[in-house]
Amino acid sequence: MDVPGIALITGAASGIGRACAEGFAREGASGIALLDVNADALASVKAAIEQSHAASGRATCKIEIYPVDVSKEAQVDAAVDRIVATFGRLDYVVNAAGITIKHPGGAAFATTEDWNRVMEVNVNGTFFVLRAAARHMLKQEPILSSIHGRPLQRGSIVNFSSILGVIGITLSTAYTTAKHAIVGLTRTASEDYAKDGLRINAIGPGYTETPMVTQNPRVMEAMLERVETAVPMKRMGRPDEIADGVLYLAGGRSSFVTGSILMVDGGYTS
Ligand code: NAI
Repeated sequence: MDVPGIALITGAASGIGRACAEGFAREGASGIALLDVNADALASVKAAIEQSHAASGRATCKIEIYPVDVSKEAQVDAAVDRIVATFGRLDYVVNAAGITIKHPGGAAFATTEDWNRVMEVNVNGTFFVLRAAARHMLKQEPILSSIHGRPLQRGSIVNFSSILGVIGITLSTAYTTAKHAIVGLTRTASEDYAKDGLRINAIGPGYTETPMVTQNPRVMEAMLERVETAVPMKRMGRPDEIADGVLYLAGGRSSFVTGSILMVDGGYTS
């Protein structure tokens, strides 16, 4: 799963985003920009990846951190400019930053404040990062011309949808709407830039054991119940299992794949 070049990963301080950062370092990225709103956690993730990378004896991977709130477009634009200035180019973007808020009582009782925040982080945040990155990627020379003899690739973006991007479940009004919107953004943007060698796909994780769910007893309880009744594999996913799907979509092995939604969900949506 070769991913030579430079990767930008949002939501990199925790869970699946962190597992993606570890995966890019392991699979050959020469540089990784870690973005997250949680600056302290970002610094520890950088230190941990650098330590295990050095111990592995693999080629150098330069890692930089960028404390950024992806829902703030000025912060995103400035960070992407700094990343391109620091690393020289940008080959992969992983839009993993996300939040979820449960609405007891469903749409009838969801607050406007909760609705707006979920949209701002999940939908606006994904759009802001995609837009800023695509503007740079479309201008740069292609990479991967010689990897596996595959066609040229100017860049590859992986957005984070969810099982809730293709189905709906109870009490998840804003999050389900946001994850469906990310499917729409992925499909339309992939059409816009397919001819330019810029591929845009989405990953649809199923229930995955990360702080997003383990730190929230109500979410965890609902998930475990669903896992028992609705997930054919009868278990939650691990962050590295989702990261493997992201690495496939990002790298040259998926050179003929764009506009797709890869479900990594233990069979839930099959
Ligand atoms: P997590 O909560 O462990 O990690 C999310 C990261 O995003 C955190 O480090 C957090 O600080 C960061 N973040 C939140 N708001 C941000 C903002 N405004 N700007 C920058 N960073 C921000 O969650 P997890 O589970 O790793 O989620 C990663 C992605 O996977 C999310 O998009 C989530 O919606 C999606 N997903 C997760 C599933 C699960 O079961 N864990 C299932 C389906 C999708």
